Amino acid sequence: MTRVLVVYGSRHGATGGIAERIGEVLRTEGLSAEVAAADRVGAMHDIDAFVVGSAVYMGSWLDEPIRFLERNAGVLATRPLWLFSSGPLRGSTAARSQEDSIEAALGPADGPGSGGRKRVARLEELTHPREHRVFFGAFDPNDPPKALSERLARMMVGPKGVLPTGDFREWDAIEAWAREIAQGLRSPVAAGAGG
Ligand SMILES: Cc1cc2nc3c(=O)[nH]c(=O)nc-3n(C[C@H](O)[C@H](O)[C@H](O)COP(=O)(O)O)c2cc1C
Repeated sequence: MTRVLVVYGSRHGATGGIAERIGEVLRTEGLSAEVAAADRVGAMHDIDAFVVGSAVYMGSWLDEPIRFLERNAGVLATRPLWLFSSGPLRGSTAARSQEDSIEAALGPADGPGSGGRKRVARLEELTHPREHRVFFGAFDPNDPPKALSERLARMMVGPKGVLPTGDFREWDAIEAWAREIAQGLRSPVAAGAGG
């Protein structure tokens, strides 16, 4: 049976929830799927394919999934790999003004504010994901910040609700994507390298 590892970085649980749902759908589709936080990934023997996702804060992936990609780039480059970001809050300035979903989440490809996106782009060059999908995320202002940087970021983006609050995760889109992944793994080319 094809074994898929879904790896995620999450601060407040929204991205972990997306990863768990992807894992559930993959299992429903007849694959073996495990889901793990990026800093808790154990042995990776016999994993045939990977899905790696991160919450995005101030245009950057979290460190743990970045480090997972860095550490395992060699292996990931030889397996089918999908990436996802979670992701703009529906109604936020970025979500409204950017048609390109990667740009809405991670900012411009070049120039000021492009550091986080470039970091992910460099890892994409090394690992050749089949796709990088962006999903709307969630924000609960009553859930206290988990890092000083996040506390500062919340202050910077606006203490009085400039960030849309709520759970904007689109489960239909997430589940459809997971089914696409399963379909991709069933097709004959899936046995080969990623890309
Ligand atoms: C202070 C702050 C900054 C954020 N910055 C971004 C961002 O730059 N790009 C983006 O797409 N989403 C951004 N978000 C939205 C979060 O990534 C989104 O809420 C995500 O689903 C949170 O995932 P988690 O619950 O797994 O941590 C930000 C949220 C907060 C609270």
